[in-house]
Amino acid sequence: MSFLWTTSDLIAAMHGRPMGNLPEGITGISIDSRSLDKGEAFFAIKGDRVDGHDYAGIAVANGAALLVVSETKLPALGRVIAPMIVVDDVLEAMVRLGCAARDRSAAKIIAVTGSVGKTTTKEMLRHVLEPSGRVHASVASFNNHWGVPLTLSRMPENTDFGIFEIGMNHADEIRPLVRMVRPHVAIITTIAAAHLGNFKDLEEIAAAKAEIMEGLVDDGHVILNRDNEQFETLEKTANALAVAHIHSFGSSAKADFRMVEFTGGSEGAVLWAALDGKTLEIQMGAPGRHIAENALAVIGAASLVGADMDAALAALATLQPEKGRGARHRLAIGSASFVLIDESYNANPASMRAAISLLKDTELPEGGRRIAILGDMLEMGEFAGKVHAELAAPLVEAGINEVWLAGPEMAHLRDALPEDAHVEYRQTVDELKEFALGSIAAGDGVMIKSSKGTGCGRIVSALLDTYPPYSGTERVE
Ligand SMILES: Nc1ncnc2c1ncn2[C@@H]1O[C@H](COP(=O)(O)OP(=O)(O)O)[C@@H](O)[C@H]1O
Ligand SMILES: [Mg+2]
Repeated sequence: MSFLWTTSDLIAAMHGRPMGNLPEGITGISIDSRSLDKGEAFFAIKGDRVDGHDYAGIAVANGAALLVVSETKLPALGRVIAPMIVVDDVLEAMVRLGCAARDRSAAKIIAVTGSVGKTTTKEMLRHVLEPSGRVHASVASFNNHWGVPLTLSRMPENTDFGIFEIGMNHADEIRPLVRMVRPHVAIITTIAAAHLGNFKDLEEIAAAKAEIMEGLVDDGHVILNRDNEQFETLEKTANALAVAHIHSFGSSAKADFRMVEFTGGSEGAVLWAALDGKTLEIQMGAPGRHIAENALAVIGAASLVGADMDAALAALATLQPEKGRGARHRLAIGSASFVLIDESYNANPASMRAAISLLKDTELPEGGRRIAILGDMLEMGEFAGKVHAELAAPLVEAGINEVWLAGPEMAHLRDALPEDAHVEYRQTVDELKEFALGSIAAGDGVMIKSSKGTGCGRIVSALLDTYPPYSGTERVE
């Protein structure tokens, strides 16, 4: 049996007080009593909504090897009988454990931040590095004050590549997280209007993302997006912080990891990338120019951490677009089919544009309509009206025939679209869902996107519940 941590190392790293008959070690760490596997330690942290101490009993019933609980909550746990490590504060103890995990590790560490594309890039790194060694990466978007120390604490000692997503809603959030992670390579995917409500302008967002460079190891690398309008700002910061190696990616002729050409398609794409003086033709398993842009940063990082590059490049051909981030479904309607592109995970102006371009590149049969079903982008503060209205131009340029909208902010887009656009507007997502269920036809290509909180995912679910997967052989030419 190999342990993630021996109990004695756990106690030492967390400065904890052992209580009860503790096992020799733990096989994993869980903060969720429902998904806990037998043999794991349950850390009773206070999450976004609930306090883990209230679920300690369930964790024990589900086979927790031990509990990590806080001294002040101990009296309230009177009836829970289990081996425990008692600490001052469970989250702070997890931070100390995360730092111990980093200290004991010989892995190459990559940290990813940016306004969009963090999870996509992190998962792509996982995928391309897997042929080169043992990879440990964040689960889902575990990128915040508990997600980062949790991911670190879970990193096995024999990891070869550690990949960490680091996010933020406010200034000063990335700094403490990246100081725990101490990456060899930091990637900033792009700077765009996300959480704009919390910032004055893009420069402020760039400054907050730039904090990721403050945690780099001494001889560290940063990879910046050369095509982004904040590139110069970020490069200046990198120089001011004396970052040892500054690299860039993008279409710009000056980019180190450069997109020479890109050909989009429905199911994939071809990227020609220049790297170290060579131009490589790379098959991409997932479509979208934005995915290929992320891939440039991924290729750059992979080469900097010493990956097997042939294997890494080959792996890009087997990428799959993820649920909510471009996953495609061909659904049966009558004896024919339509295509659903699920972009419902989240939205901001940059990812909306990327998704519109995905829909544009989707090949459809004669007569098939390109339909964008869009809901509000949240957290845009005073810029909300403007950023919604500004989606009119990319929609028109992409030749999207049908624009179906829901939500108060999308009224700004409705008003900004030209007279001859086919627009449907509903106040609520549920009203738009009913309309969509009655209006999609054979041959259509439907892309659905909104901020998570707006809930256009419900339209995706309704379509998946209503229309079965298409099993016919009809081809789209
Ligand atoms: N480089 C990019 N530019 C624009 N949109 C992107 C980019 N990378 C990913 N996206 C899109 O942005 C959305 C969020 O992607 P995700 O990788 O989950 O970002 P994050 O983790 O930063 O929130 C998805 O719709 C995805 O397809
Ligand atoms: Mg994410």
